Amino acid sequence: MKKSPVGHQDRDRYWLLSSVYERLASLVFGQELVAAHRDLIEGGRGALAQCTELIWIGGGTGVLIEELLSAAPQATLTYIEPSKSMLKRAQSRVHQMVQRDQERVIWVNATHEWLYQRAQIDSSQTPAEDHANHQRCLLTVFFMDVLTAPQCHELMEWAREAQVNTWLFADFIVQTGWIKRAFIQWMYVCFMVTTQIKQRSLLDHLQLFHEHGWSALKESGRYRAHDLVFSALLTQEGHTSL
Ligand SMILES: C[S@@+](CC[C@H](N)C(=O)[O-])C[C@H]1O[C@@H](n2cnc3c(N)ncnc32)[C@H](O)[C@@H]1O
Repeated sequence: MKKSPVGHQDRDRYWLLSSVYERLASLVFGQELVAAHRDLIEGGRGALAQCTELIWIGGGTGVLIEELLSAAPQATLTYIEPSKSMLKRAQSRVHQMVQRDQERVIWVNATHEWLYQRAQIDSSQTPAEDHANHQRCLLTVFFMDVLTAPQCHELMEWAREAQVNTWLFADFIVQTGWIKRAFIQWMYVCFMVTTQIKQRSLLDHLQLFHEHGWSALKESGRYRAHDLVFSALLTQEGHTSL
């Protein structure tokens, strides 16, 4: 497993949550959050089949990691997760898989900032003859909501420069009704108390994506959990606006 001083966290902020995370999520949302993962895998089948390098940031316990690896048979998966306890749970899922699939996963116990070390992910390092076939996909599921606005901008810009071909995104989205807004704010308070996240409220990620030239592929958008959650495949040459 790769370790790096960049993005390394001394304290596992999710150790308390990791053992109950999936049970809590299903208690509050039923199977809707798992379904949002599945929507991305199903909707992203075309992109995943072509994908040679898949980067999953903040994957937590690795919900549906087996299905993801099956849908992207040519890809190496770089799994970036700062919480050791979350990472271990994802690893135990992959350890049930055949050796070849296990060997396709690079485990990175660090925050997303690990990506910004130039040597980690650098398209100029891809051999020239592989460039044309190289397809880089990024997956973030219920991860962007932990980042501050400057961190979101930085990651969206990094993804553009790193020539990410498809960004598979799922997260909570900004609501208009006060009950849903209050519910999301309550979730933030819970996360602030248990994991000390710095972001205090939900940002309009779709607007931020738009500002950075990312747009949703036509008909890839799916809503879940009474429209609290939205998922889509984003590209830089998107065919339709969000
Ligand atoms: C709300 S959980 C979602 C987990 C998983 N994606 C899911 O949907 O089940 C957020 C995850 O992001 C991870 N995380 C928090 N800050 C991070 C950062 N800066 N870089 C990468 N991962 C981070 C946490 O450790 C946690 O596993």
